[in-house]
Amino acid sequence: MMLSEKLRLLFFFAAVLSTKTPCTIASSSFIYASCFPSRYPPDTPFQYNVNSVLASIANSASMSSYSCFASGNDSSSPPGSAAYGLYQCRNDLSAEECSACVQSGVEQVGLVCPEAYAAALQLDGCLVRYSNYDFVGKPNVSVAYKKCSSETSGGDVGEFFRRRDEVLGDLGSGQAFRVSTSGTVQGYAQCMGDLSPGDCAACLAQAVEQLRNACGASLAADMFLEKCCARYWVSGYYPRAADTSDYTDDDIGKTVAIIVGILAGVALLVVFMSFMKRTR
Ligand SMILES: *[C@@H]1O[C@H](CO)[C@@H](O)[C@H](O)[C@H]1NC(C)=O
Ligand SMILES: *[C@@H]1O[C@H](CO)[C@@H](O)[C@H](O)[C@H]1NC(C)=O
Repeated sequence: MMLSEKLRLLFFFAAVLSTKTPCTIASSSFIYASCFPSRYPPDTPFQYNVNSVLASIANSASMSSYSCFASGNDSSSPPGSAAYGLYQCRNDLSAEECSACVQSGVEQVGLVCPEAYAAALQLDGCLVRYSNYDFVGKPNVSVAYKKCSSETSGGDVGEFFRRRDEVLGDLGSGQAFRVSTSGTVQGYAQCMGDLSPGDCAACLAQAVEQLRNACGASLAADMFLEKCCARYWVSGYYPRAADTSDYTDDDIGKTVAIIVGILAGVALLVVFMSFMKRTR
């Protein structure tokens, strides 16, 4: 490892540590990450283009809830070196919350999926995604992540289904972002900003259909397709963060922040020790 590279790592981990404050808001809670299995070689044009796309993503999230970027997709760049990326915040986040979420997503995607040709990281409030394949603007209804919670037991099951189906019907109505509540059931659905209204409606219909079919009487369920998501929960299922507009501290977010912090700390120590050995 070159000395300059070590220093860069040192600064990188120092930056990660310094931005991981204990009161990470719930909109930064980790939901899923998917990493393309093969890794790109370092110091290549593709690495430069990925870093450039991720930097643009981190810098522009305070200006809009969705944006997409490309680097190296012009005829003067080496073939195959282009990188494409986008971020999408939950539409009801403030500009500050969106920016904080996306910056955290960009940091984490580099740690969770180091040197992956393509990666997606979904936090509670935002998605960060990049690839060597131009996926932007292309509809895709593959399941990226799904989770069905434990099922309702006791209580008025009929009432639960009626309320849940009302919320799901509402979420499936095809709007790019929709929050819905019926009785104790709440939910929201959202499309990526790169979908046309028609593709968005088709994606949401799929997401809702899959939730209904896959999750039975689950008290909470998440369906993230490649280009849209639908989620619902009964109030009180997510302690403290149950209300859609209430972004308070969240235990999962804190745990992820602590784990990332510890990993970064260990890496920092290793890098520092090898740095000291080398300079001696
Ligand atoms: C590169 O990608 C950007 C963003 O998707 C697009 O606006 C631009 O037209 C592309 N350039 C070329 C030469 O294809
Ligand atoms: C949809 O996304 C999945 C997962 O990223 C990918 O394997 C598949 O090829 C995509 N389908 C299309 C039509 O782009």
